[in-house]
Amino acid sequence: GQFEEMFIPSFFAWFLLPSAKDMVVCKSMDFLRTLDTMEAFKKHITDFSGKDEEKEVDLEQYFEAKGPLHCTTKFCDFGKAEGAKEYAMKPAVKDFYGSTSELSLTALFVTPRTVGARVSLTDEQLLLWPDDAEKEAESVVPAASSLPPGSRAHVTLGCAEGVEPVQTGLDLLEILALQKEGQQGETVDEMELGSLTYYGEGRWLLSLREPICTPVCFSSYYQ
Ligand code: A2P
Repeated sequence: GQFEEMFIPSFFAWFLLPSAKDMVVCKSMDFLRTLDTMEAFKKHITDFSGKDEEKEVDLEQYFEAKGPLHCTTKFCDFGKAEGAKEYAMKPAVKDFYGSTSELSLTALFVTPRTVGARVSLTDEQLLLWPDDAEKEAESVVPAASSLPPGSRAHVTLGCAEGVEPVQTGLDLLEILALQKEGQQGETVDEMELGSLTYYGEGRWLLSLREPICTPVCFSSYYQ
């Protein structure tokens, strides 16, 4: 019939419900405001300001948020991305489409390019995670494919000028790859929210003491 041809979306994702969105934005803004006033951050200011050691960086202004807050499962590019159609037809995708669940945000991270939240997926949520999500990042983060499935799962909270949101997951994978290699980073501070570690080159990770739990709906985006 006329409705049989499937229109493949831009991407599939868990979308934060409106009631939860403000709380997550608020917490991430608090984190950015605290981070850019810390001495440890100022010590590494040139990661963000270029050569200018005197320059102040206002992280709230530095990053810009776009579109609805979500955790992408599969970027489909309206069917042009590899494996898009196969993903859209997966039984789990059909079964869970439109269903609500809770996402657990377990860390916040900042780099000179992006700010995001790490998402720890449940076994059920992993059913919606594409097998090759980590492997696809291999050309940028060579160790990515050796990380467990779901490692790339994140919510983009903001991007620096001229940076595309796809960068956020790559930045996260880079930090996780460093951890896996055994780089401890430099634990700079115990903050109210958790412990803050510096991994060099402007990479900061705040492991949350208490995960931020947020209600989401699994759906897709067509614009
Ligand atoms: P993210 O999930 O990190 O926010 P765009 O606006 O560029 O079309 O992207 C739409 C969404 O899909 C964004 O949320 C973006 O990143 C994600 N995305 C874009 N390109 C890719 C890609 N090549 N691989 C995985 N996710 C992507």
